[in-house]
Amino acid sequence: MNQSIAALLSTALNHEWTASEIEKMIEKPKMAELGDMAFPCFTLAKKLRRSPQSIASEVAGRLSDEMIREVHAVSGYVNIFVNQQSVTENVLQEILREKEQYGSMKSVKENVVIDYSSPNIAKPFSMGHLRSTVIGNALANLAEKNGYQVVRINHLGDWGTQFGKLIVAYKLWGDKAAIEASPIQELLKIYVKFHAVAETDESLNDQARASFKALENGDEESLALWKWFRDASLKEFALIYDVLGIRFDSFAGEAFYNDKMDAVVNQLKEKKLLTQSEGAFVVELEDMPPCLITKTDGATLYATRDLAAALYRKKQYDAKKTFYVVGNEQSLHFKQLFQVIGKMGYDWSCDLQHVAFGMMLKDGKKMSTRKGKVVLLADVLDEAIETAKRNIEEKNQALKQKELVAKQVGVGAVIFNDLKNHRMNDIDFSLEQMMNFEGETGPYVQYTHARISSLLEKGQFEERAIEFDALGEYAWPVIQLLEQFPITVQKSFEQADPSQIAKFSLQLARAFNKYYAHTKVLVDDEWKQMKLSFASCVAIVLKDALRLLGISAPSQM
Ligand code: ARG
Repeated sequence: MNQSIAALLSTALNHEWTASEIEKMIEKPKMAELGDMAFPCFTLAKKLRRSPQSIASEVAGRLSDEMIREVHAVSGYVNIFVNQQSVTENVLQEILREKEQYGSMKSVKENVVIDYSSPNIAKPFSMGHLRSTVIGNALANLAEKNGYQVVRINHLGDWGTQFGKLIVAYKLWGDKAAIEASPIQELLKIYVKFHAVAETDESLNDQARASFKALENGDEESLALWKWFRDASLKEFALIYDVLGIRFDSFAGEAFYNDKMDAVVNQLKEKKLLTQSEGAFVVELEDMPPCLITKTDGATLYATRDLAAALYRKKQYDAKKTFYVVGNEQSLHFKQLFQVIGKMGYDWSCDLQHVAFGMMLKDGKKMSTRKGKVVLLADVLDEAIETAKRNIEEKNQALKQKELVAKQVGVGAVIFNDLKNHRMNDIDFSLEQMMNFEGETGPYVQYTHARISSLLEKGQFEERAIEFDALGEYAWPVIQLLEQFPITVQKSFEQADPSQIAKFSLQLARAFNKYYAHTKVLVDDEWKQMKLSFASCVAIVLKDALRLLGISAPSQM
């Protein structure tokens, strides 16, 4: 709607601005009595050295279309009332026709790579990794909805000096059976012990370095241990991905690039980008510290592996965009990485984007891995699911498939709580708040969807073509939101900001609940099936918005 009106305005303004420029200027009037949208003429007035009001009057006089019901020039604004009937019928017909395809873009046959989740082997899956997983998954869904082919990559932290430490620790104190039973917990235990003992026993660190070197040189025993740690950890991560309903196309982590490192270092050399600094090799950068490429002993680093990964992915996927969904504490790392790639002469470095995010807090404090004290994600999810189960027992004892619904609601609450704020904000983890059925929560949106589903069932819903006048006076705000869904899908992907979808789903749920509170739907008159068709449109869009966020929409709760 905004798009079409912007096109009309552009014509009325003799193309002084393009439709898409105008679309960005269109405002929503503070009060609904003023109109459905308003176009401010102040910038143009300056440019043309005329009064805003005279421009507004002139433009208002030129605007006429079947989509527009009334136009007024008020205090330098062109206030527009759209023709609610034609907008309503267009939007709702489109939703009924396209169902969950509503708002989807035609395939553009271009790839988007999303690097997300990426936990570290033998370390607990942190709250930061949860955020990356949830945000990355939503972005991937949004990219698909916008017509892209998505490559979902889990860039596992499965290489690095910590594996030298782990191997030494395992040889000293490892308990095979214990590790097999509970891999991450046990591996973490010996890793922490390694650090404690190394504080007094210097030689341990030397052993670890030697042991990592052996691993890098392909020593069989070390490799076998490394592979075992990796497989066991992955099995544990898989449990979490399973609960969250997350999948990946590739688990090519850091180790995958081992045999591709020499080529990268050589390329840097050939391009004369490497400088020696105290035996190590670095790339000097503008406005930031140099990027370390190899250490004095020749070992490569996190950044080197990311460099190799970027070059490999470019060849493999030739993505239009690559998103690295990683906490904002790594922002220097990505700035350096992108600048190095730019210096290598690759203009596609500007297609790489660090999608950063803030921390997860509990009672205002960071939830982190300190001295082996960790908040285990699996416990957090279990707790959310348990709470959902208790709520269900209280509210709806007769519910079928209680276990499944409790899982969908508990997990949905955790995901929604993460995505409803802009990703750069720190978020607070309060189970009680995120589970509240009446708050700004996932369960609230899910509940609204389930409520509509049962309404449709009770009313023996049969789809009808909808007439605006049948719906009642509270329908318009709902329709305006429904109309905004496609543009929200687009913007939220362009700005890598899934919170726009979360906020949208809350607004739509709220608007529909208000409609329902003021409108009798299940009255046996000729309008009933039209109202139910309208409600079904809301359910379709709510369900799809939740799906984009990675949340299920059960039809009963
Ligand atoms: N494993 C890293 C960590 O836990 C995150 C990796 C992110 N992806 C990347 N391509 N660097 O901090």
